[in-house]
Amino acid sequence: MMFFIQGEKMNTAVLISGRGSNLQAILYAEREKRLGEAKIQLIISNKKEAEGLKYSEIFNKKSVVISRDSFITKNEFEQKLIQTLRENEIDLIVLAGFMQILSTEFVNLYDGKIINIHPSLLPSFPGLKAQEQALDYGVKVSGCTVHFVNSEVDSGPIILQETIEITEKETEESLSEKILTKEHEALPRAISLISQNKVIISGRNVRIMI
Ligand code: GAR
Repeated sequence: MMFFIQGEKMNTAVLISGRGSNLQAILYAEREKRLGEAKIQLIISNKKEAEGLKYSEIFNKKSVVISRDSFITKNEFEQKLIQTLRENEIDLIVLAGFMQILSTEFVNLYDGKIINIHPSLLPSFPGLKAQEQALDYGVKVSGCTVHFVNSEVDSGPIILQETIEITEKETEESLSEKILTKEHEALPRAISLISQNKVIISGRNVRIMI
């Protein structure tokens, strides 16, 4: 279970690798006071060319690039991440299109404090190209999943899921677009609920207190 001190803000870091549309949705939500007690304190990108870094300026938020390529080992890369998260007193880490697998050691250090958004209804279609996997399989519904991060890829306890229907004319592009609309609602909502201590983890199960 997570406890954030009432009356204090939950300092949140959003980690991105690319376009950053989920980051944008989170920042809009914060601006519109739909992010509960969460405060977006820091944006971290592992790619210096990530398009989403532009939201740092647009929303006047601090950002930093920590690239795996700048370090010899993965451990050194993660130590830099940890140092940056500590310096900024981060309580919650949000992976919003962050395409770098974190080690078991890192994940255990932040147990219950890292969440991820994935563009499928997990446990179906984990990993890369989830939308393509769903179309290839021929499922009739898909959606997105917000989950806590554990040491296995896309398999931590599920916080929220949103569904969409797949039509006969669906393309990977149209499906990605439909799912993305749901992602932009689900991720800010999950952050808001966590910041209000309304999310309780019990083994694999997550209870939302509303
Ligand atoms: C989103 O669709 C997100 O669910 C996905 O990457 C996209 C990032 O878009 N994440 C994964 O596939 C993680 N396994 P964005 O940069 O516009 O937020």
